[in-house]
Amino acid sequence: MMFMRSLRRKGALSFTRRGIEPIVRNFPSVTAAWVAACRSFGVLLPEGERLADDPYGARFARTVPLFRAPRVARALFPRRAIVYMQLRTRAIDDALLDFVRGGGRQVVLLGAGFDCRALRFARELASATVFEVDHAATQARKRAVLANDVGAKTEYVAWDFEERAVSELPAELAARGHDASQKTITIWEGVTMYLTPRAIDETVTAVAAYSAPESRLVFTYMERSLIERPSLRARAGAALVGLVGEPFRFGFEPSELGGWLEARGFSVDRDATMGELARELLGRADFDWGGRHIAFTRRLPRRGETRPA
Ligand SMILES: C[S@@+](CC[C@H](N)C(=O)[O-])C[C@H]1O[C@@H](n2cnc3c(N)ncnc32)[C@H](O)[C@@H]1O
Repeated sequence: MMFMRSLRRKGALSFTRRGIEPIVRNFPSVTAAWVAACRSFGVLLPEGERLADDPYGARFARTVPLFRAPRVARALFPRRAIVYMQLRTRAIDDALLDFVRGGGRQVVLLGAGFDCRALRFARELASATVFEVDHAATQARKRAVLANDVGAKTEYVAWDFEERAVSELPAELAARGHDASQKTITIWEGVTMYLTPRAIDETVTAVAAYSAPESRLVFTYMERSLIERPSLRARAGAALVGLVGEPFRFGFEPSELGGWLEARGFSVDRDATMGELARELLGRADFDWGGRHIAFTRRLPRRGETRPA
């Protein structure tokens, strides 16, 4: 209750006329801190389960008073969640490194939160620019926490996908040095579930507009059934994110994903479930994080368009 009261005092929570729908506006994202911490806690796993290293993420755990209470922390960061975050992080890291090895130099992180890839891969991204797009409050906290760290060249673009027309994003990126004639990898990790269908549609359309052929769009998503018919476990997770003002709102139906993306200029290279990634990356057949996927997609050439050199 104290945590909720403190959020309300700071103006982070308000309630809409539609009912009890708290909205985060001017407070750093709590789910971003949870993800960052969870990523870092991979270091607590036995060596065979460690797939990604993030020495920066734990610093964001310290910024959320709730996470500092040992009993609460144990409940919020179960081993299963840490394994899930290792799988998700590693699969996306691999896609990023593959893109860079193929000559890609532009990285856009949509809803970047406290993703520290610009630091974690400072060497690999030495000649790249990372464009981080998120709420201003979350970016301010990130910049404060990482003030003394040096990573790849990063442009912070403050944006609310629900409030500001995403159709303006390509022009804003261009003003910050993004070159739409060169390929880009866009990473939209842990974000689609928090947006409205309108923002999802507008965002993918905007990504298509700034992405040259052979650009990549990698994103995580929840299956629609998790939103519409959640299991007991899924309901508990949804209640928690709702309480901190970041309710789950959107899921894709996997069988519709390919057609939906194709209509917006992308083809799906792979739509992986967490169970598949656990088999592949950990050799484990007993792990799943039900209904969560990572889609690896690529920009289709527009008519008459050529691939960037
Ligand atoms: C669960 S966090 C994921 C952060 C990061 N991508 C990662 O995986 O570490 C969700 C992020 O989406 C951002 N986000 C959610 N809704 C947004 C909106 N309407 N506009 C901008 N950012 C938003 C939050 O601020 C938060 O940083």
